Amino acid sequence: MIRTIVYISNAVMLLEKKHLDELFYQCVQNNISNNVTGILIYKEGTFIQVLEGNDQDLNNLFKTIQQDKRHNNIMTVLDRMNTKRLFTKFRTGLSSLNNARQLNILETFLRNSKGSPHSQTILALLGPFLNKKNTSMNVIN
Ligand SMILES: Cc1cc2nc3c(=O)[nH]c(=O)nc-3n(C[C@H](O)[C@H](O)[C@H](O)COP(=O)(O)O)c2cc1C
Repeated sequence: MIRTIVYISNAVMLLEKKHLDELFYQCVQNNISNNVTGILIYKEGTFIQVLEGNDQDLNNLFKTIQQDKRHNNIMTVLDRMNTKRLFTKFRTGLSSLNNARQLNILETFLRNSKGSPHSQTILALLGPFLNKKNTSMNVIN
């Protein structure tokens, strides 16, 4: 079974692109090694992250993330088990989404994943973060 966690949190300060790039790079590298999938979006001081993986691995990772001093007010908005991942095919080539075109790709991907677990719930949760007028957003998967 695959566990999916979605949480929202606040960055402790408005993060500069350089710091976001470092954070996203760290997440991508670690998550590939640990077989964790999902995405991380940052917009105007707020993070939203979808994490998918083995129950125990995700438990440990989420504990680490919760202790990270770069953010606070961590609120879990979804924590469910399912048989498969949503973001498996989304990994390649979309490690850094920071423009309208890439956000559009993410939205289309979610809209086209109707049969996948939680896809429409996740689309609804990510909705406010997919506002294409804002191009200063960063997303990783
Ligand atoms: C908003 C946010 C999201 C994060 N997401 C992840 C993640 O998906 N995977 C990960 O390994 N670390 C993530 N981290 C970083 C972890 O808290 C921690 O710094 C990192 O896992 C330590 O990795 P290291 O042992 O390679 O130094 C995140 C941190 C923040 C602030």
